[in-house]
Amino acid sequence: MAEAAADAGRAPNLRLFFALWPDAATRAGLHARARALHSECGGRAMRRDTIHLTLAFLGETPVRQVERLRAVAAGVQGDGFALDLDRVGSWHRNRILWTGPSMVPPALAALAQDLEGRLRADGCALEARAFSPHVTLVRNAHAAPREAQLTPLRWTVGSFVLVASERSAAGAHYRTIGRWPLKRRG
Ligand code: 2AM
Repeated sequence: MAEAAADAGRAPNLRLFFALWPDAATRAGLHARARALHSECGGRAMRRDTIHLTLAFLGETPVRQVERLRAVAAGVQGDGFALDLDRVGSWHRNRILWTGPSMVPPALAALAQDLEGRLRADGCALEARAFSPHVTLVRNAHAAPREAQLTPLRWTVGSFVLVASERSAAGAHYRTIGRWPLKRRG
């Protein structure tokens, strides 16, 4: 106990998650979608530099575990894939507006499952809820979007990242602390 407290004093926690991070063109398309939803439904649009799709949320994690997480991520054997974001929806309780795919590519499901399995095997306590791929675009919305089905926005995914979420007066800032490639197909 005393050792843990002393250790915590020396090594602060990081709030970590694994995610897919959009390239510049996809980010611009997602940000435009966020702005359109914001005009329609109010709330707070996500800043362009914060838009992402979470694969696994780790939460508060001691800094000393980052190297182990890097090793776990390096073991993931995933294929790249195209993700067609053709849906928008809302979760009322937290008034989040999101975009996501109506068809989850098998390579995305396999990536999330492989990563989750490896993290659990390494002792990470992940939430039990099922993986539901979504990109949060607006928070604290006042209404649900009218359209559920949209013209697909195609995101070609070639890597995944480990990100630290840092809070400041300006809001959340996400710092990428590792990136791993997915195999190119064909
Ligand atoms: P959200 O976009 O649906 O809020 C950083 O907080 C990222 O991790 C967000 O994309 C968030 O999803 C996701 N996340 C998953 N589980 C979370 C949790 N229990 N608390 C906070 N964020 C969580």
